[in-house]
Amino acid sequence: MRRAFICGNWKMNKTASEAAAMLRDLRGAVSMVRDRVEIAVAPPFTALAAAAKAIEGSNVELAAQNCHSQGSGAFTGEVSAEMLKDLGVAWVILGHSERRQLFHETDAGVNEKISAVLKAGMLPIVCVGETLAEREAGKTLDVVSTQVKGALKGFSAADGARFVVAYEPVWAIGTGKTATSRQAQEVHAHIRGLLTELWNPDTAQQVRIQYGGSVKPDNATELLSQTDIDGALVGGASLKVADFAGIVKAKG
Ligand code: 13P
Repeated sequence: MRRAFICGNWKMNKTASEAAAMLRDLRGAVSMVRDRVEIAVAPPFTALAAAAKAIEGSNVELAAQNCHSQGSGAFTGEVSAEMLKDLGVAWVILGHSERRQLFHETDAGVNEKISAVLKAGMLPIVCVGETLAEREAGKTLDVVSTQVKGALKGFSAADGARFVVAYEPVWAIGTGKTATSRQAQEVHAHIRGLLTELWNPDTAQQVRIQYGGSVKPDNATELLSQTDIDGALVGGASLKVADFAGIVKAKG
């Protein structure tokens, strides 16, 4: 049985003080689901230290939104996996479609970053998803296959079982247009099939696959009740305590 995992991706929102203030409220609002749902938030880098302090002793974990693949060196403006681990980060979101589209990230680059994250003792949330043009051209499953295989290539089943994959159709992100539970379940089941090929059926059954794209309290129950939807990666609705807690409770 896979434990549900809801992660808030705050993107480029909230200062360190705003993050701390929100998390002081959030920790109380989600404390009742402690064993049933795993919860994480991914503030911007500048708010991670304050966030770590604000969630200390709670059931909210810390995630980062990206990292560099190298441990240290002349990479102006970048942040390494070790630096994140040192702040108390447990999860790193990799290959988000905004990073792919705006910062030219590739599957090969995501693959290198996963290695760095594992080496530092954290776990990846690997994002995949098709654009509207790709969906309309009937290429959704092919695009997702290429992304999953490219990003996860070379990792052992033992490591892979602990990974999280997030299916985020690009056309559903920040648009208010959610994939129907049927559309999402189709892709999630396809991803689980790919993981079976890549590793083995047991491992594929252990991997949690989150859905992301305009998840709100009022559509979360329906999405999260699908067989292969094991949680959510939440953008806009993760910025308000009531909305994010509402999504967590939809599963808890
Ligand atoms: P929205 O929930 O704002 O659509 O964003 C989804 C997302 O990109 C999470 O990573």
